[in-house]
Amino acid sequence: MKVVVIGGSGLIGKKLVHILRLEGHEVTAASPSTGVNAVTGQGLAEALAGAEIVVDVANAPNWEDQAVLEFFEKSGRNLLAAEAAAGVKHHVALSVVGTDRLMASGYFRAKMAQENLIKAGKVPYTIVRATQFFEFVGGIAQSATDGQTVRLPPALMQPIVSDDVAAALADIAVEPPLNGMVEIAGPEPIRMDELVRRFLTANRDPRQVTTDNQARYYGVAVNDQSLTPGDHPRLGPTRFTDWLTRAVP
Ligand SMILES: NC(=O)c1ccc[n+]([C@@H]2O[C@H](COP(=O)([O-])OP(=O)(O)OC[C@H]3O[C@@H](n4cnc5c(N)ncnc54)[C@H](OP(=O)(O)O)[C@@H]3O)[C@@H](O)[C@H]2O)c1
Repeated sequence: MKVVVIGGSGLIGKKLVHILRLEGHEVTAASPSTGVNAVTGQGLAEALAGAEIVVDVANAPNWEDQAVLEFFEKSGRNLLAAEAAAGVKHHVALSVVGTDRLMASGYFRAKMAQENLIKAGKVPYTIVRATQFFEFVGGIAQSATDGQTVRLPPALMQPIVSDDVAAALADIAVEPPLNGMVEIAGPEPIRMDELVRRFLTANRDPRQVTTDNQARYYGVAVNDQSLTPGDHPRLGPTRFTDWLTRAVP
């Protein structure tokens, strides 16, 4: 099948393109670095010509409230219009578990806007909501760092490695559209403070994690339900401990 991966040069995009090509599909990796810009529309019609499936794993370069909203609204509208014109049969978008519970965050309001455009559009779709990637844990630590202290809430998470996200997307892309949402998560729950503590220890990072029930996650108050999946997520097999052993030099 002809598949276009929007954001095909990103963390998930590169891995997804690789898996789909190994499976024998004709894959275009589309992003500004290959002349395709979903926000301006540049190169979209050409990239989508003859495509049956589009997987959108693009991310905004700027997460400031207005900028990120504009990114997901403009790219969402442009993509859906170009897909309708090209006769695309399945639009798959990667979103985040708990998006609807995190509306205090501009980033998640933008992801919600992206999801709503897809639901209101004419192209058959599947929205895949993933939990936080293992590769994102360093960013969580950074966002909560003050000097040598990393202040984090003990909220439950169920993070997943990017390879397992890409593998799930590759499967879902060639399945019939759900016209609905599916959740994907890692194999085990872990609390945010503990997750970051283990990451820093494995990296011999001297920063200390302080558990603070009042601390926020990127400015948002979170509890044990905020970031964890519902009843029937698809689970990636890779455990955080095994990834840490491989990822840390
Ligand atoms: N981080 C997490 O823990 C997490 C969890 C769940 C879901 N997600 C979702 O996963 C998705 C992918 O994240 P990622 O970490 O793989 O992203 P990433 O590594 O930051 O890659 C972003 C991709 O978007 C492309 N892009 C930027 N501007 C674009 C534009 N105007 N038009 C088309 N493509 C554009 C980039 O292309 P260039 O390289 O050419 O600039 C790049 O390929 C995001 O939608 C995010 O919301 C993330």
